Amino acid sequence: MNNIVLIGFMGCGKTSVGIRLSYRLKQTFLDTDNIIEKEQGIAIAEIFATKGEDAFREMETQCIEKLLEDPIKHIISVGGGLPVREENRKLLSSLGKVIYLQASPDTIYERVKHDTKRPLLQGDNPKKKIAELLEKRENIYESVAYATVCVDGKSFYEIMDEIEELVKDRRGDRSEHENTSN
Ligand code: S3P
Repeated sequence: MNNIVLIGFMGCGKTSVGIRLSYRLKQTFLDTDNIIEKEQGIAIAEIFATKGEDAFREMETQCIEKLLEDPIKHIISVGGGLPVREENRKLLSSLGKVIYLQASPDTIYERVKHDTKRPLLQGDNPKKKIAELLEKRENIYESVAYATVCVDGKSFYEIMDEIEELVKDRRGDRSEHENTSN
């Protein structure tokens, strides 16, 4: 069995879906942001403020490298910017079945509009920031995904059912990796 790796933009529901899926599939749930915060002993926003985004991106790469060595297979949610590094995309493909949770800019905005913890969405006009960043990242997410699940207007149950169907066969190795976006 292989890991299930959830990717997607901030607010697409990676963590909420991942936790519920981990109960359903009786697998542990891990979140790269959470791992990094624990290791560093400070919140992501503080890492960005004190060490800078580049340092955070390096931490993300190291986090994925460590997960690749873990013999236990998990449900893993990764930070929204992690797949942007090409190096990380290669690592993600080896890590497991990568599922892209695709959300529209409106869905994302509704979910994150009161958020104060995500440094990239602070400041004026978060709606514009979301649209711009999502446009830059959409193809990147698609390119690394084994499959895409659109989350707009769907319940957690519907999203989980779709993921479960997609990952039915998880003896997976790299040869299984192909983009089956729908
Ligand atoms: C980021 C997404 C965040 C977190 C950091 C940067 C991004 O994770 O890693 O604030 O670049 O999209 P979530 O996607 O879990 O919010």
